[in-house]
Formats: sequence, C-alpha cells, structure tokens
Amino acid sequence: MGYKINEELIEKIHDSCDLIDIVSRYVHMKRTGSNYVGLCPFHNEKTPSFTVSSTKQLFHCFGCGTGGDVITFIMKIENLSFLEAVKYLAELYGIPLEEDDDNVSNQRKLEQEKIYEINRTAAIYYYQMLSKNSKAVNYLRGRNIDITKIKMFGLGYALDSWTNMFDYLKGKGYDEADIEKSGLISKSKGNTKYYDKFRNRIIFPIIDTKNRVLGFGGRVLDDSKPKYLNSPDTLVFEKGKNLYGLNLIYKHSNREKIILVEGYMDVISLFSRGINYAVASLGTSLTNYQARLLKRFGKQVYVCYDSDEAGTRATLRALNVLKQEGVDARVITLPEKYDPDDYVREYGLEGFNRLESTALNYIDYNIFILKRTHDLTTPEGKIRFTKKVANLIRDLKSPIEQDVYMDKIAMDTKVSKEAIRNEVIGKASPIIINKDKYINVKKSHTNIINPVETVIEPAQLTAEKNLILLMIRSRSNFELIKKHIEVDDFSSDNYRTLTKAIFDEYKNNPHVIDIDIKEITNKIFEKGNRIDADVAKEIADSSIESSIENIDKFIKDLIDTVKYYKLKNEREEISKKIKEIEQKKDLKEKEVEELRRLCVRLTELDKELNTHT
Ligand code: CTP
Ligand code: MN
Repeated sequence: MGYKINEELIEKIHDSCDLIDIVSRYVHMKRTGSNYVGLCPFHNEKTPSFTVSSTKQLFHCFGCGTGGDVITFIMKIENLSFLEAVKYLAELYGIPLEEDDDNVSNQRKLEQEKIYEINRTAAIYYYQMLSKNSKAVNYLRGRNIDITKIKMFGLGYALDSWTNMFDYLKGKGYDEADIEKSGLISKSKGNTKYYDKFRNRIIFPIIDTKNRVLGFGGRVLDDSKPKYLNSPDTLVFEKGKNLYGLNLIYKHSNREKIILVEGYMDVISLFSRGINYAVASLGTSLTNYQARLLKRFGKQVYVCYDSDEAGTRATLRALNVLKQEGVDARVITLPEKYDPDDYVREYGLEGFNRLESTALNYIDYNIFILKRTHDLTTPEGKIRFTKKVANLIRDLKSPIEQDVYMDKIAMDTKVSKEAIRNEVIGKASPIIINKDKYINVKKSHTNIINPVETVIEPAQLTAEKNLILLMIRSRSNFELIKKHIEVDDFSSDNYRTLTKAIFDEYKNNPHVIDIDIKEITNKIFEKGNRIDADVAKEIADSSIESSIENIDKFIKDLIDTVKYYKLKNEREEISKKIKEIEQKKDLKEKEVEELRRLCVRLTELDKELNTHT
C-alpha cells in the first residue's frame, strides 16, 4: 500500500522543515536582509542568484528561473518524484506517514475539522463570558492585562458551572460525542453524565499559526489547586508538538530571536512590555519537535525558565534537547524567586533587555550551575567541580575553545591549567605514535608529538611543528615536504621564519643532510630576524618517534592537516567579514559586490574543505 499524501501531511512538512536548513545542506547560503543567497545548485554560476526567503519559505533562482517550496527543492536536488520527496522529508523530520486509505483519512479529517469548529465556538463564548464577569476582568487587571491584551490573546472566562459550556455547545447543535472529542467536557467516573472540564477559570486558548484553536489552558483566580488545567490531547492537540504563542510570533516577531518560557502568563506579560517573541512549552518538558519549531521561528533561541530548582533542571534538559537539534541556545538567567512575568513587571523592558544581553551559552550556563551547586572553598568541592567542568570541556569541538575554558576554570579554581588539561584528556585515550603505527593527524584532530610526554595542542600547530621537526631531521624529508608546502602555508610568524631559514639552509648548502635547531636559531638571530625564544626552545626540546614506517604517508597527512587548517582559517576570516558587512543597515553597491565575492569564495572553500574530510 502506498502512503497517504494529504493536506495535513504537507502542512506538517511545511511546519517542521525549515527551507533554509534544508537548502544549507546543499548550498552555502548567506543572509541579505530577510533573504538568503547562494550559488544556484541547478545551474552553473559564479555570482549567487539563488535566493531563499525564510519568511515565505520559498526559493527562487534569478539566473535559471527555478523556484518553489521545500518539497520542490528536494524533488529537484535529489531527483525525486513529488511522492518520494514528501516521503523523504517526512522521514527526515520524523513525521509519521499514514497508509493510503481514503476512507480512514477522510473520516479523520472530518473529525478534526469538527473539533476545530467546536473549539472556536467555545473560545468565542469564553471571551464573551469574560467581559460579563467583573471578577475575572479584575483578576486580569490586577495582573496588568488590559483589554488589548485580552483581545490579542483571545483570553476568556469559564463560568463557575458544571454544564454551562456543555449546554451552550449542545444548544449550538453539536453532538455530545463530538463535544467530548474536543476535550471540553468529560464523563464523571462511574457516571454517564457529562460535565465541563473548565469551571471558574481564566481561559487561555492555544492557537496555531493557521489561527486554529487547538485547545485551552485554564487558570484559577485564587490559590486553589490545581493552578492550571490544560485540554487533554485530542485529534488536533498534542502538547509536545505545540508552543503557546506561536500564532503571535508568526504575526508580530521579526524572527531574529525567540524566547522559550514556562507559562502562559510569562508570554503575555513579556508581550505587554513589547517583547513579542516569547513562547511557552505548555507545561511539558521540551520535546525535540518543539525544539525544531523554536529553531524555525527564531534565529537566536533563548531559554528563560523560572529560577527555581525545577526551572533549572528543566533548563538543562531543554538545552540538551536543543543541542540535539543543532541549536546553540542561550539561557537568560533570572534572579532567585523570579519568573519572566515577575521580572519584567519589576524591571521593565529595559531590565529584561539587559538580562537578555548577558544570556549564557551552553557551557557557561552549565558552569554557572555547577558553581552554584559546589562549594569551591573546600578541596572536595573544587575537585568535583573541576572534574565535571572537564567533562564539559572535553565535548567542545574546537581546541581553541577548550583552551579558553581551561584558562577560565584555572583562574576560577586556582587549579593548575595543566591539571585541568590532564583531566580533560584523561578519558579521551591519547593516540601515541609508536613503532608500527602513526596517527592520521587530520582525521583524529588530536596528535602527539612526543610519545613520552603527551601534550595535546591545536592540531594545526602540532602538524606544523611535526613538519619542522621532520625537515630538520633529514634532507630527504625536506625534499619531500618542500614539494607540497610553502613557507607561507605555516600559520605563525615564528614558524614561517623558522621554515624559511631551514629552506635556505638546505638550498645554500647542497651537502648539508640535516639541521641542528640551535644552529639554525642562532643564524636567524645573527641575521637580525627574530623568533620567540620559547618557540625555539620548544622545538629544540621536542622529539618525534624515529621509526615511522610509511614516512611518505605520514608527511602527506601532516601537509593535509596544515592545508586543511589554512583553508579553515581563511573560511573563518571570510565569514567574519561577511558578518561585518551584514551588520550594516543600508548596503552600498560596492559592499553588495564584496559580499557576493566573499560568498563565492566561501562556497569554493567549503568545496575544498569537503574534499579534505
Ligand atoms: N502548568 C500546568 N499545570 C499546573 C501548573 C503549571 O500545566 N498545574 C503549566 C502552565 O502552562 C503554566 C506553566 O506550567 O503556565 C508554569 O507554571 P507556574 O510557574 O506554576 O505558573 P506561572 O506561569 O507562574 O503562572 P502564574 O504567574 O499565573 O502563577
Ligand atoms: Mn508567574
């Protein structure tokens, strides 16, 4: 049996797939305003005319005229039929495919439509009841929610009655069975009578980006329990698949940022102060589905949960879920006993913005929490703290980042950086060059120059150092290396000066078969050039395993590593330049031209870097 491709499935695909995300898998895209541009993958071009709109979720190439939505894109680039492309995307995003059975799916669709209709009718009724109930209006006024916000969020009030909504909906002609499916009523235990789920509560309708009412939340007006009630999961409402406030983000926010908060009131309160980019996760812990929604609706994701213990735990969980979805979220940390609603009420927009600007990234937030939960004045506390932070640092991909955090922690704890480094590398079994093996430097990104004393350094520097050591060891190594690498390929002034001196020494003295590092550094100084004494000493003190079996391959890998990092550094510089230009408001033509040139170079670099991995 085939798969049922219906409107609902296509909708789900459009909801979960971010076109920018998908296109970026194939094309290097750069932002210009609300659009992204890159080199068209469907025809050959040197200047980017392939444009993707993140708000419209459409692409268009001004060069070859191709265009469409995410499904069209996948059809073209993967050479798939429409059905295959839908299936491909559904699988990619974990959207379940239903088997093709017209009767079942039509039936389901009708049921869903009925629920949407009942929900809408109920929401309107709740809203009308609110304006007639001064107790409810006063409650909201007491929480600084005025009529514009009531309208904007469609807030309502459920009367203090067991059957008011049930009777109202029946009066409107709806079947009992259909009303039950909406979750607005349920049957009492052992009884056959229906009663209203929401009674004497402020009502928060949960609305999707297509303006459909999915379900409701209801809050008591006093301190009674439970404080909040939510609609049960229904055919149109699954808590883990929605976010409260998404409908307004869709309309009002520029999607630069999105803040995840815990509660309905937080969203509304932030909105009242002009922060129109907050959503709430509906009382569940954040799901991967919700994380993808966040990613799609805001470029920078912030988490701002309550500052209590439960909130902290939920924040750490949310950060991990977001990380799984490739989102580098930041945490806005509130002072103790505050939630976003309290905070913005007390400190206003300005205060909140200030807090937002100091939001912590994944590792900084984790360190912040560890600091709070460990006593750094006792040796035991310090040890446990440092070990846990070492675990975090180990997960960082960039050696430079690792280094920065090791410095930070060394300062904080007064534990020596060397000890922290050992803790960090302790569990990642070091690869050591030995008699029959050598490491593939490029692939491992970790390499050891001296097997006795294992020191991990940024892979690029180590590879360069290894090449220098090999060159001074024998002329034959030098001849081999010189074929593939130039002095300028080395990353630091010190290494360039040193390499230049080695090249000159071999060239000017045809009978020299190896080089003494001390002699060569003396010569450098005699000529009035400089290299750091530390660097000279470090090279002099380093050694390399003497019997590497396949020296040609070893050298080739080192050269690959050096070139790889050279490209990577250039890429970083270019992307920095691109970001700088993008920051500017009105781009001059020259800057647009520069931007294009940089994008082209970036795409070239990405291609080259890809062949390197
Ligand atoms: N929640 C829930 N059921 C509960 C309590 C809370 O579903 N019994 C969800 C609601 O979505 C609520 C969110 O968790 O908005 C946060 O709960 P909490 O921090 O207790 O409430 P506040 O948002 O601070 O609400 P208020 O300011 O109205 O007290
Ligand atoms: Mn609150």
